[in-house]
Amino acid sequence: MKRISYSKQTIDDSDVRSVVEVLRSDFITQGPQIKAFEEALKRYLCVKHVCVVSNGTAALHLAYLGLHLEDCIVFTTPITFAATSNMLHLIGAEIRFVDVDPLTGNMDVDVLEKALKAETSTKPKAIVPVSLQGIPANLPDIWTLAQRYQAKVVEDAAHSLGGTYVHEGQTYKSASCQHTDVATLSFHPLKTICCGEGGAVTTNDDTVAERVLCLRNHGLVRVDNSYLREQRAWGYNYRMTDLQAALGVSQLKRIDFFVSRRQQIAKRYAEVLSQEPYCDFIEITPLHEGSAYHLFVIHFKNIQARDFAYQYLNDKGIETNVHYMPLYKYQLYRDMLGAMQLPGAEAYYQGCLSIPIYPNLTQDDQDYVLNVLAQCCQEL
Ligand SMILES: Cc1ncc(COP(=O)(O)O)c(C=O)c1O
Repeated sequence: MKRISYSKQTIDDSDVRSVVEVLRSDFITQGPQIKAFEEALKRYLCVKHVCVVSNGTAALHLAYLGLHLEDCIVFTTPITFAATSNMLHLIGAEIRFVDVDPLTGNMDVDVLEKALKAETSTKPKAIVPVSLQGIPANLPDIWTLAQRYQAKVVEDAAHSLGGTYVHEGQTYKSASCQHTDVATLSFHPLKTICCGEGGAVTTNDDTVAERVLCLRNHGLVRVDNSYLREQRAWGYNYRMTDLQAALGVSQLKRIDFFVSRRQQIAKRYAEVLSQEPYCDFIEITPLHEGSAYHLFVIHFKNIQARDFAYQYLNDKGIETNVHYMPLYKYQLYRDMLGAMQLPGAEAYYQGCLSIPIYPNLTQDDQDYVLNVLAQCCQEL
Protein backbone atom coordinates (compact mmCIF):
# COMPACT_ATOMS: atom_id res chain seq x y z
CA MET A 1 0.00 0.00 0.00
CA LYS A 2 1.16 3.51 -0.78
CA ARG A 3 2.01 5.54 2.31
CA ILE A 4 1.73 9.29 2.65
CA SER A 5 3.79 10.77 5.47
CA TYR A 6 2.60 13.78 7.43
CA SER A 7 5.69 15.71 6.43
CA LYS A 8 8.75 15.25 4.28
CA GLN A 9 11.85 17.12 3.13
CA THR A 10 12.05 18.53 -0.43
CA ILE A 11 15.46 17.79 -1.93
CA ASP A 12 16.36 18.51 -5.56
CA ASP A 13 19.46 18.16 -7.76
CA SER A 14 20.75 21.60 -6.81
CA ASP A 15 20.78 20.53 -3.14
CA VAL A 16 22.65 17.35 -4.04
CA ARG A 17 25.20 19.31 -6.11
CA SER A 18 25.80 21.77 -3.28
CA VAL A 19 26.56 19.00 -0.78
CA VAL A 20 28.74 17.05 -3.23
CA GLU A 21 30.75 20.20 -3.97
CA VAL A 22 31.55 20.52 -0.28
CA LEU A 23 32.46 16.84 -0.04
CA ARG A 24 35.02 17.41 -2.79
CA SER A 25 36.36 20.62 -1.21
CA ASP A 26 39.01 21.16 1.47
CA PHE A 27 36.54 21.79 4.29
CA ILE A 28 33.67 19.57 5.28
CA THR A 29 33.37 21.37 8.59
CA GLN A 30 34.36 24.84 9.89
CA GLY A 31 34.72 26.07 6.32
CA PRO A 32 33.16 28.85 4.24
CA GLN A 33 29.64 27.41 4.01
CA ILE A 34 28.94 28.24 7.65
CA LYS A 35 29.48 31.95 7.09
CA ALA A 36 27.58 31.78 3.79
CA PHE A 37 24.56 30.20 5.47
CA GLU A 38 24.65 32.66 8.38
CA GLU A 39 24.87 35.63 6.02
CA ALA A 40 22.01 34.30 3.87
CA LEU A 41 19.82 33.79 6.94
CA LYS A 42 20.67 37.28 8.21
CA ARG A 43 19.58 38.80 4.89
CA TYR A 44 16.43 36.71 4.75
CA LEU A 45 15.37 37.47 8.33
CA CYS A 46 16.70 41.06 8.49
CA VAL A 47 18.35 40.22 11.81
CA LYS A 48 21.78 41.38 13.00
CA HIS A 49 23.26 38.07 14.18
CA VAL A 50 22.76 34.43 13.21
CA CYS A 51 24.76 31.61 14.77
CA VAL A 52 24.14 28.24 13.13
CA VAL A 53 24.50 25.15 15.30
CA SER A 54 24.18 21.37 15.13
CA ASN A 55 20.41 21.19 15.80
CA GLY A 56 17.44 23.12 17.15
CA THR A 57 17.86 21.70 20.66
CA ALA A 58 21.44 23.01 20.81
CA ALA A 59 20.08 26.37 19.57
CA LEU A 60 17.64 26.48 22.50
CA HIS A 61 20.38 25.50 24.95
CA LEU A 62 22.68 28.27 23.72
CA ALA A 63 19.89 30.85 23.51
CA TYR A 64 19.01 30.20 27.16
CA LEU A 65 22.65 30.30 28.24
CA GLY A 66 23.27 33.37 26.06
CA LEU A 67 20.63 35.21 28.10
CA HIS A 68 21.81 33.69 31.42
CA LEU A 69 18.46 32.06 32.18
CA GLU A 70 20.07 29.53 34.58
CA ASP A 71 18.54 31.10 37.67
CA CYS A 72 15.29 32.38 36.13
CA ILE A 73 11.59 31.67 36.43
CA VAL A 74 10.62 30.87 32.84
CA PHE A 75 7.06 31.03 31.53
CA THR A 76 6.60 28.71 28.58
CA THR A 77 3.99 26.52 26.95
CA PRO A 78 3.31 22.82 27.53
CA ILE A 79 2.17 22.29 23.90
CA THR A 80 5.54 21.92 22.25
CA PHE A 81 8.28 19.44 21.50
CA ALA A 82 10.02 18.43 24.73
CA ALA A 83 13.26 20.22 23.78
CA THR A 84 11.78 23.67 24.49
CA SER A 85 11.45 23.06 28.21
CA ASN A 86 13.89 20.16 28.62
CA MET A 87 16.73 22.56 27.95
CA LEU A 88 15.30 25.03 30.48
CA HIS A 89 15.24 22.31 33.12
CA LEU A 90 18.73 21.13 32.23
CA ILE A 91 20.23 24.58 32.80
CA GLY A 92 18.46 24.86 36.16
CA ALA A 93 15.67 27.31 35.26
CA GLU A 94 12.31 26.99 37.01
CA ILE A 95 9.51 26.18 34.55
CA ARG A 96 6.01 27.69 34.74
CA PHE A 97 3.64 26.27 32.12
CA VAL A 98 1.23 28.85 30.73
CA ASP A 99 -2.01 27.80 29.04
CA VAL A 100 -2.56 28.01 25.28
CA ASP A 101 -5.25 28.90 22.78
CA PRO A 102 -7.22 25.68 22.16
CA LEU A 103 -7.07 25.99 18.36
CA THR A 104 -3.62 27.42 17.57
CA GLY A 105 -1.87 25.92 20.59
CA ASN A 106 0.01 29.22 20.99
CA MET A 107 0.57 30.87 24.37
CA ASP A 108 -2.50 32.68 25.71
CA VAL A 109 -1.29 36.18 26.51
CA ASP A 110 -4.08 36.91 29.01
CA VAL A 111 -3.10 33.82 30.99
CA LEU A 112 0.54 34.84 30.75
CA GLU A 113 -0.27 38.29 32.14
CA LYS A 114 -2.11 36.76 35.09
CA ALA A 115 0.77 34.35 35.73
CA LEU A 116 3.33 37.16 35.68
CA LYS A 117 1.21 39.23 38.02
CA ALA A 118 0.72 36.31 40.43
CA GLU A 119 4.38 35.26 40.51
CA THR A 120 5.82 35.79 43.97
CA SER A 121 9.42 34.73 43.37
CA THR A 122 11.91 37.58 43.12
CA LYS A 123 14.13 35.64 40.70
CA PRO A 124 14.62 37.15 37.22
CA LYS A 125 11.96 36.23 34.66
CA ALA A 126 11.89 35.03 31.08
CA ILE A 127 9.19 34.02 28.60
CA VAL A 128 9.59 31.34 25.93
CA PRO A 129 6.68 31.34 23.49
CA VAL A 130 6.60 28.72 20.72
CA SER A 131 5.34 29.72 17.28
CA LEU A 132 3.45 26.46 16.95
CA GLN A 133 2.33 24.96 13.64
CA GLY A 134 4.14 27.84 11.85
CA ILE A 135 1.86 30.56 13.27
CA PRO A 136 3.98 33.21 14.98
CA ALA A 137 3.09 33.55 18.66
CA ASN A 138 1.61 36.90 19.72
CA LEU A 139 5.09 38.38 20.04
CA PRO A 140 4.21 42.12 20.21
CA ASP A 141 1.87 41.62 23.20
CA ILE A 142 4.30 39.22 24.88
CA TRP A 143 7.06 41.79 24.35
CA THR A 144 4.96 44.53 25.96
CA LEU A 145 4.41 42.33 29.02
CA ALA A 146 8.09 41.41 29.06
CA GLN A 147 9.06 45.08 29.22
CA ARG A 148 6.62 45.62 32.11
CA TYR A 149 7.99 42.66 34.10
CA GLN A 150 11.62 43.02 32.97
CA ALA A 151 11.55 39.57 31.44
CA LYS A 152 13.69 38.25 28.59
CA VAL A 153 11.90 36.68 25.61
CA VAL A 154 13.04 33.74 23.45
CA GLU A 155 10.87 32.73 20.50
CA ASP A 156 11.10 29.02 19.73
CA ALA A 157 10.64 29.43 15.99
CA ALA A 158 11.47 25.82 15.07
CA HIS A 159 8.11 25.56 13.23
CA SER A 160 7.80 29.06 11.87
CA LEU A 161 10.72 29.97 9.61
CA GLY A 162 9.03 31.76 6.70
CA GLY A 163 6.09 32.79 8.88
CA THR A 164 5.11 36.45 9.35
CA TYR A 165 2.92 38.56 11.62
CA VAL A 166 1.51 42.06 11.31
CA HIS A 167 1.83 44.65 14.05
CA GLU A 168 0.62 48.24 13.72
CA GLY A 169 0.42 47.88 9.95
CA GLN A 170 3.93 46.50 9.54
CA THR A 171 4.84 42.94 8.62
CA TYR A 172 7.56 41.15 10.62
CA LYS A 173 9.21 37.78 10.11
CA SER A 174 9.20 35.12 12.77
CA ALA A 175 12.74 34.82 14.22
CA SER A 176 13.62 38.39 13.17
CA CYS A 177 13.79 39.31 16.90
CA GLN A 178 11.87 42.56 16.48
CA HIS A 179 9.77 41.70 19.57
CA THR A 180 12.06 39.20 21.31
CA ASP A 181 15.61 39.10 22.65
CA VAL A 182 16.50 35.88 20.86
CA ALA A 183 14.89 33.31 18.57
CA THR A 184 15.82 29.74 17.70
CA LEU A 185 15.36 27.71 14.52
CA SER A 186 15.53 24.04 13.59
CA PHE A 187 16.57 22.63 10.23
CA HIS A 188 15.40 19.09 10.89
CA PRO A 189 14.15 17.42 7.65
CA LEU A 190 10.49 18.12 8.41
CA LYS A 191 10.98 21.86 8.98
CA THR A 192 10.59 24.70 6.43
CA ILE A 193 14.15 24.17 5.16
CA CYS A 194 16.41 21.33 6.12
CA CYS A 195 20.09 20.62 6.73
CA GLY A 196 19.67 16.97 7.77
CA GLU A 197 20.04 18.18 11.33
CA GLY A 198 20.70 21.80 12.16
CA GLY A 199 19.60 24.86 14.04
CA ALA A 200 20.30 28.54 14.55
CA VAL A 201 20.19 31.24 17.20
CA THR A 202 19.15 34.67 15.94
CA THR A 203 19.43 37.96 17.84
CA ASN A 204 19.96 41.69 17.44
CA ASP A 205 21.91 41.79 20.70
CA ASP A 206 25.71 41.93 20.24
CA THR A 207 26.53 40.61 23.73
CA VAL A 208 24.22 37.62 23.45
CA ALA A 209 25.54 36.83 19.96
CA GLU A 210 29.14 36.90 21.20
CA ARG A 211 28.35 34.55 24.09
CA VAL A 212 26.41 32.10 21.90
CA LEU A 213 29.23 32.02 19.35
CA CYS A 214 31.76 31.34 22.09
CA LEU A 215 29.65 28.58 23.72
CA ARG A 216 29.14 26.88 20.32
CA ASN A 217 32.81 26.04 20.21
CA HIS A 218 33.79 24.93 23.75
CA GLY A 219 33.94 28.48 25.05
CA LEU A 220 37.27 28.87 23.30
CA VAL A 221 38.10 32.16 21.60
CA ARG A 222 41.12 32.78 19.36
CA VAL A 223 43.49 35.52 20.55
CA ASP A 224 44.95 38.01 18.05
CA ASN A 225 44.54 35.63 15.11
CA SER A 226 47.35 33.49 16.53
CA TYR A 227 47.33 29.82 17.59
CA LEU A 228 46.56 31.00 21.12
CA ARG A 229 43.09 30.54 22.53
CA GLU A 230 41.41 31.72 25.68
CA GLN A 231 38.70 29.73 27.36
CA ARG A 232 36.05 32.33 28.21
CA ALA A 233 33.21 29.94 29.18
CA TRP A 234 32.39 26.28 29.74
CA GLY A 235 31.14 25.51 26.27
CA TYR A 236 30.11 22.71 23.93
CA ASN A 237 30.74 21.33 20.49
CA TYR A 238 27.50 22.48 18.86
CA ARG A 239 29.13 23.26 15.50
CA MET A 240 27.29 22.71 12.25
CA THR A 241 29.23 21.00 9.45
CA ASP A 242 29.81 22.59 6.04
CA LEU A 243 27.83 19.72 4.49
CA GLN A 244 24.78 20.79 6.53
CA ALA A 245 25.36 24.49 5.87
CA ALA A 246 25.70 23.96 2.10
CA LEU A 247 22.36 22.17 2.10
CA GLY A 248 20.92 25.04 4.14
CA VAL A 249 22.19 27.67 1.67
CA SER A 250 20.74 25.75 -1.23
CA GLN A 251 17.39 25.18 0.52
CA LEU A 252 17.07 28.80 1.63
CA LYS A 253 17.09 29.87 -2.05
CA ARG A 254 13.74 28.06 -2.44
CA ILE A 255 12.13 29.08 0.86
CA ASP A 256 9.49 31.30 -0.75
CA PHE A 257 8.38 28.40 -2.93
CA PHE A 258 8.30 26.00 0.05
CA VAL A 259 6.21 28.36 2.17
CA SER A 260 3.81 29.34 -0.60
CA ARG A 261 3.21 25.66 -1.49
CA ARG A 262 2.42 24.90 2.15
CA GLN A 263 0.09 27.93 2.28
CA GLN A 264 -1.70 26.85 -0.93
CA ILE A 265 -2.27 23.34 0.40
CA ALA A 266 -3.50 24.74 3.74
CA LYS A 267 -5.97 27.02 1.94
CA ARG A 268 -7.32 24.15 -0.13
CA TYR A 269 -7.66 21.87 2.91
CA ALA A 270 -9.40 24.66 4.85
CA GLU A 271 -11.90 25.33 2.03
CA VAL A 272 -12.88 21.69 1.75
CA LEU A 273 -12.82 20.83 5.44
CA SER A 274 -15.08 23.71 6.42
CA GLN A 275 -17.91 22.08 4.40
CA GLU A 276 -19.97 18.92 4.81
CA PRO A 277 -19.39 16.12 5.67
CA TYR A 278 -16.32 17.32 7.58
CA CYS A 279 -17.61 20.40 9.41
CA ASP A 280 -19.88 18.42 11.75
CA PHE A 281 -16.89 16.43 13.04
CA ILE A 282 -13.80 18.55 12.48
CA GLU A 283 -12.80 22.07 13.36
CA ILE A 284 -9.78 23.53 11.63
CA THR A 285 -7.23 25.90 13.08
CA PRO A 286 -8.40 29.25 11.58
CA LEU A 287 -6.39 30.11 8.46
CA HIS A 288 -3.51 32.42 9.32
CA GLU A 289 -2.16 34.36 6.38
CA GLY A 290 1.34 34.55 7.81
CA SER A 291 1.65 30.94 8.91
CA ALA A 292 4.58 28.96 7.52
CA TYR A 293 2.28 25.90 7.79
CA HIS A 294 4.85 23.55 9.23
CA LEU A 295 1.73 21.66 10.37
CA PHE A 296 -1.89 21.59 9.30
CA VAL A 297 -3.82 20.78 12.46
CA ILE A 298 -7.46 19.66 12.49
CA HIS A 299 -9.44 19.24 15.70
CA PHE A 300 -11.89 16.47 16.55
CA LYS A 301 -14.56 16.80 19.23
CA ASN A 302 -12.82 14.52 21.70
CA ILE A 303 -9.89 12.17 22.16
CA GLN A 304 -11.90 9.07 21.17
CA ALA A 305 -12.81 10.61 17.80
CA ARG A 306 -9.23 11.79 17.27
CA ASP A 307 -7.74 8.40 18.12
CA PHE A 308 -10.26 6.67 15.85
CA ALA A 309 -9.29 9.01 12.99
CA TYR A 310 -5.56 8.48 13.65
CA GLN A 311 -6.00 4.71 13.34
CA TYR A 312 -8.45 4.92 10.43
CA LEU A 313 -6.10 7.08 8.35
CA ASN A 314 -3.10 4.97 9.31
CA ASP A 315 -4.87 1.82 8.12
CA LYS A 316 -5.40 3.52 4.74
CA GLY A 317 -1.74 4.47 4.41
CA ILE A 318 -1.96 8.05 5.70
CA GLU A 319 0.44 9.01 8.45
CA THR A 320 -0.78 11.67 10.85
CA ASN A 321 0.55 12.81 14.20
CA VAL A 322 -0.36 14.50 17.47
CA HIS A 323 1.59 17.70 18.11
CA TYR A 324 1.66 17.62 21.10
CA MET A 325 0.62 15.95 24.32
CA PRO A 326 1.05 18.59 27.08
CA LEU A 327 4.53 18.14 28.51
CA TYR A 328 3.19 18.23 32.09
CA LYS A 329 1.69 14.76 31.46
CA TYR A 330 5.14 13.15 31.16
CA GLN A 331 6.15 11.42 34.38
CA LEU A 332 9.40 13.37 34.71
CA TYR A 333 7.50 16.64 34.53
CA ARG A 334 4.85 15.37 36.96
CA ASP A 335 7.61 14.45 39.40
CA MET A 336 8.98 17.95 39.09
CA LEU A 337 5.81 20.07 38.94
CA GLY A 338 3.11 17.84 40.43
CA ALA A 339 -0.08 16.87 38.62
CA MET A 340 -1.53 19.70 36.56
CA GLN A 341 -4.14 20.28 33.87
CA LEU A 342 -4.54 23.47 31.85
CA PRO A 343 -7.92 23.75 30.11
CA GLY A 344 -6.69 25.20 26.79
CA ALA A 345 -3.84 22.71 26.54
CA GLU A 346 -6.16 19.80 27.36
CA ALA A 347 -8.74 20.92 24.77
CA TYR A 348 -6.00 21.34 22.16
CA TYR A 349 -4.39 17.98 22.87
CA GLN A 350 -7.57 15.91 23.06
CA GLY A 351 -8.75 16.92 19.58
CA CYS A 352 -5.65 17.75 17.54
CA LEU A 353 -4.38 15.79 14.56
CA SER A 354 -1.71 16.95 12.10
CA ILE A 355 -2.57 15.79 8.58
CA PRO A 356 -0.05 15.58 5.72
CA ILE A 357 1.38 18.85 4.46
CA TYR A 358 4.68 19.41 2.65
CA PRO A 359 5.68 21.25 -0.54
CA ASN A 360 5.64 18.23 -2.87
CA LEU A 361 2.36 16.75 -1.61
CA THR A 362 0.54 16.21 -4.91
CA GLN A 363 -3.06 17.21 -5.58
CA ASP A 364 -3.89 13.50 -5.92
CA ASP A 365 -2.44 12.79 -2.50
CA GLN A 366 -4.30 15.77 -0.98
CA ASP A 367 -7.53 14.42 -2.54
CA TYR A 368 -6.78 10.98 -1.14
CA VAL A 369 -6.32 12.43 2.35
CA LEU A 370 -9.59 14.39 2.03
CA ASN A 371 -11.52 11.38 0.70
CA VAL A 372 -10.31 9.08 3.46
CA LEU A 373 -11.14 11.78 6.03
CA ALA A 374 -14.67 12.02 4.58
CA GLN A 375 -15.08 8.23 4.93
CA CYS A 376 -13.72 8.46 8.45
CA CYS A 377 -16.27 11.16 9.38
CA GLN A 378 -19.06 8.88 8.18
CA GLU A 379 -17.91 6.24 10.64
CA LEU A 380 -17.56 8.55 13.63
C1 LIG B 1 9.00 23.40 18.72
C2 LIG B 1 10.31 22.70 18.60
N1 LIG B 1 11.37 23.21 19.27
C3 LIG B 1 12.58 22.64 19.20
C4 LIG B 1 12.79 21.50 18.45
C5 LIG B 1 14.16 20.87 18.45
O1 LIG B 1 14.74 20.90 17.19
P1 LIG B 1 15.80 19.77 16.74
O2 LIG B 1 15.02 18.54 16.42
O3 LIG B 1 16.43 20.38 15.52
O4 LIG B 1 16.74 19.59 17.84
C6 LIG B 1 11.74 20.95 17.73
C7 LIG B 1 11.94 19.75 16.91
O5 LIG B 1 11.05 19.15 16.39
C8 LIG B 1 10.46 21.56 17.80
O6 LIG B 1 9.42 21.06 17.16
